[in-house]
Amino acid sequence: MIVSMVVAFSDNGVIGKDNGLPWSLPKDMEEFRRITSGHHVVMGRRTWESIPERFRPLRGRTNVVLSRDPNYRAEGAMVLTSLDEAIKKAKLDGESELFVIGGAQVYEEALESDVVDRAYVTRVHGDVEGDAYMTALDNRWTRSPLATWHEADANHSHAFTFERYERHRARKPTAHLDGWSLTHATSTCLRGVVSGHTGRPDLTDGTAVRTSSVLSIDLVNMVAETLNTQYMLGTPARAVET
Ligand SMILES: NC(=O)c1ccc[n+]([C@@H]2O[C@H](COP(=O)([O-])OP(=O)(O)OC[C@H]3O[C@@H](n4cnc5c(N)ncnc54)[C@H](OP(=O)(O)O)[C@@H]3O)[C@@H](O)[C@H]2O)c1
Repeated sequence: MIVSMVVAFSDNGVIGKDNGLPWSLPKDMEEFRRITSGHHVVMGRRTWESIPERFRPLRGRTNVVLSRDPNYRAEGAMVLTSLDEAIKKAKLDGESELFVIGGAQVYEEALESDVVDRAYVTRVHGDVEGDAYMTALDNRWTRSPLATWHEADANHSHAFTFERYERHRARKPTAHLDGWSLTHATSTCLRGVVSGHTGRPDLTDGTAVRTSSVLSIDLVNMVAETLNTQYMLGTPARAVET
C-alpha cells in the first residue's frame, strides 16, 4: 500500500487560517476529490471539524479521524488514536493508496515518521496570511516534471500549480510492467522513460526489467499513472515487484 499526502500550500508555507483554508480554489477541490475518491482519507480532528457538516464525511471515501481522545466521536467516520493505527487498518481493508489529508500536525507527524511515499501538492502562488504551516519537503523528495499551472480568475483567488513528489527509498531490484494495454503513444513515452533509466531500450509488453540505481518502482508507477490519466486508458499500466 502506498501512503500519500495531499496538501495545498502557499509560497510562504501557509496551509490554513482560523481552522479553514485561506483561499478559494474550486479546481483544487475537484482535483482533491478526484485523487482521493474510493480511498481511505486520514485527517486530524481539527481538519475534520473544519469541514462543513453537510460535506462530512467526505463522500465516497473511508473517513478516518485522528484524535488522542478515544471517546471522540465523528459521525460517519472512524476515529483512531494514531497514524500508525490508521495505516494498519487501511492495510487490513486491502487499501492500495491511503491519503493523509491534513492538517498541519498530522502532515508534520507523517513526514517526521517517514511513512509518506508520495505527495500531491498544490502550490498556491503568492504569500498568504495564515496560522497553520507545512514543513518543506526536503531533498529526499523528487518532483515529477509533469506539473499543471492554473491562472487566478473570477472563481480562483490565486494562481496555482498541481505538482507531484515521490520519496525515494531503498532500491527495489526489479519491476514488472503489468496491464500493458496502452495506446502506442503512451507505451512509447513510458517505455522511453523506463529505458532512459534502465538502459533497456528493448523493453516490451510485460517485460521484467532490472532497474538501475536510479529507477524505482514508484517512479515507474508515477509516470504510468500520469499517462493513464492523460490518455484515459481502459486498462491502466502499473509496475509490480517481481
Ligand atoms: N491546505 C491544505 O491542504 C490543508 C489540508 C487540511 C487542513 N488544512 C488546514 O490545517 C489547519 C488544521 O491543522 P491543525 O494542525 O490545527 O490540526 P489537525 O492536524 O487537523 O488536527 C490536530 C488534532 O488531530 C489529532 N491528532 C494529531 N496527531 C495525532 C496523532 N498522531 N494521534 C492521534 N491524534 C492526533 C489531535 O486531536 P485531539 O486534540 O482530539 O487529540 C490534534 O489536536 C486548518 O486551518 C485546516 O484548514 C489545510
